[in-house]
Amino acid sequence: MKFTALSLVFFIFSIVPFTIQAAKDINGVSENGFYILYDNQYRPFITFCDFNSDKGFIWTLIESFSLNNSMKAKYRKGFFQDFPTVSSFIDLQEFRLENSVMKSIAGAPGSTHFRTTCNFNTNDRKGIQNHLDYLRVSFCNFPNFFKNVNKNTCTKVDYINVQGQSCRDCSIPIHDGGNEHHMLANIDRSPDDCDRLKFGGAKGYAFGDYRLLDSKFSCSMASNSTTNWWIGGADMS
Ligand SMILES: *[C@@H]1O[C@H](CO)[C@@H](O)[C@H](O)[C@H]1NC(C)=O
Ligand SMILES: *[C@@H]1O[C@H](CO)[C@@H](O)[C@H](O)[C@H]1NC(C)=O
Repeated sequence: MKFTALSLVFFIFSIVPFTIQAAKDINGVSENGFYILYDNQYRPFITFCDFNSDKGFIWTLIESFSLNNSMKAKYRKGFFQDFPTVSSFIDLQEFRLENSVMKSIAGAPGSTHFRTTCNFNTNDRKGIQNHLDYLRVSFCNFPNFFKNVNKNTCTKVDYINVQGQSCRDCSIPIHDGGNEHHMLANIDRSPDDCDRLKFGGAKGYAFGDYRLLDSKFSCSMASNSTTNWWIGGADMS
């Protein structure tokens, strides 16, 4: 899906790096849409911000890719790697911020969590529905987000939902990706590892590094299905 008509908000008097929380506090914005924000080097970047799909949370999009594009080498890398897209519009089929910008967002006051959604905004322009096929994790529980450790780590997640099967505050293997995979929830290993959770008949990797179409998982059910990665935290205003 391509968004060609960008709704942009410009901040002329930027004193501090503008997180989306700061933009809300100072400029009163609270509509989902495209925003120009500033990283901690005062460099502007455009991304999509979501204020309303998760009650109490504000999210900044750091990456989005289609099942088709997930097969490309640059989407088979952990977040420690730098593979930004260069484009004047944001295409949710293929979008990734610079690594330094992602780190700036993660290091900003109030950034406490990352999450993954599927096909954000495609159906009803309201974001997500029912938290189906969704993952939310606190950075405290997964310190390898920007690291290259290249292994599964038992990680306590806030919430995971795969094919309608969900749990809260449970531990599942999350792989940081390393050099050959995207970061992912290792659903293949979860019945034997950590809290030993089965997710229905789901197999393989969820939220990254797909190998096949999977008609039951909404991030990978069609070649244009998208996986969306976000950094955010509680709405403190
Ligand atoms: C996905 O890739 C296949 C095989 O390369 C191609 O035939 C198809 O048109 C692509 N679909 C999209 C939506 O890009
Ligand atoms: C994929 O393409 C179909 C058919 O064109 C469309 O209905 C659907 O909304 C698209 N999905 C995404 C995630 O863009």
